[in-house]
Amino acid sequence: MSTPQERGAEFDIGYDDFAEQLFYRRVNASLLRLAPNIDTAVDLATGTGAAVKILFELERIIPGKGSSIYGFDIDSVGLQVARKKVNSINTIGVNTLFAEGSFDQIALPGSSQKFASLLNGPHLANELLPMYKEMRRVLVDEGLEATIDDISPRDAFLSKFHLPNEGLVPFPDFQLEESFFDSESGIAFLNSAYVKNKAYPEGTGVVWKDIILAARKKLRRELGVLKFERPVDRFKYTQEEYVEHAKTAGFSFVQTFDYTAEMDVQAMQAICKYAEFAKGALPGIPVLQAAKSLYDAVPEVYEKYGIESVPRTWMFLVLRK
Ligand SMILES: C[S@@+](CC[C@H](N)C(=O)[O-])C[C@H]1O[C@@H](n2cnc3c(N)ncnc32)[C@H](O)[C@@H]1O
Repeated sequence: MSTPQERGAEFDIGYDDFAEQLFYRRVNASLLRLAPNIDTAVDLATGTGAAVKILFELERIIPGKGSSIYGFDIDSVGLQVARKKVNSINTIGVNTLFAEGSFDQIALPGSSQKFASLLNGPHLANELLPMYKEMRRVLVDEGLEATIDDISPRDAFLSKFHLPNEGLVPFPDFQLEESFFDSESGIAFLNSAYVKNKAYPEGTGVVWKDIILAARKKLRRELGVLKFERPVDRFKYTQEEYVEHAKTAGFSFVQTFDYTAEMDVQAMQAICKYAEFAKGALPGIPVLQAAKSLYDAVPEVYEKYGIESVPRTWMFLVLRK
């Protein structure tokens, strides 16, 4: 985790610059728009509150007595940003609370939440099963009737995704299987851009590798770094393993979707300067220098390949208790 000192330094190595990228909000919104209306929800590994904000924007959280949404993360600095961000939107009638907590030990009673999300974090679990079991534990056994009408898009929300040059890029038309609507148990949504054999379409892993190589070259030249550690492997599980473990944890309904997003230079630079990404790509290098060298490497690598964007594939996972 980055310290507040690091974050206040010459450029911000927190997550929020990336979390506010339009393409990234579209990724998360493409999944969350499949959520029905709910009055109790928990967002695990909430980071800077991206999913909580989108759920409010989508008007998925029904205000009223007992209505609540919790955001848990182990990063207290991210939680501060989340509180500030969500304070600036309308949450009237919903008890909104951000607190420290890990996704494999959720400080909520069993069968208490209608909805749980874990976006861009499942690959950070040391083991999938305890995380899935804990998520399933807090979900209600019944009382959540979802209808197809519930999950229709909200026009006011969609207009926020108007791209100045390209107009309104349509959201992918993901459809939930009919059997999803048979049950009234709690729902969990997960996504990850770190699924083994899936994340780098069309052999684009080479671009990511080149960014690291160019950053190393810069560090060698400017700081005299001679030896580099191998990047941290976050691609621990295949899609099949994500599905298999969810079923083993007891989830009754499991459906997956693939979402491929295009990352332009700005999007790639925003992830490169995120502390956790930089630490994983260049372990052992002081995080600010690691982040800066990766950030600076992006334009030259895009230029080398003559590309304007790089595709990256997310796995979406919809579960029902
Ligand atoms: C890539 S960020 C995603 C944040 C947010 N869900 C989003 O989609 O914008 C991953 C987050 O997982 C958090 N994290 C890592 N391990 C965790 C754990 N065991 N329990 C809860 N959060 C964790 C990190 O602190 C970080 O905020």
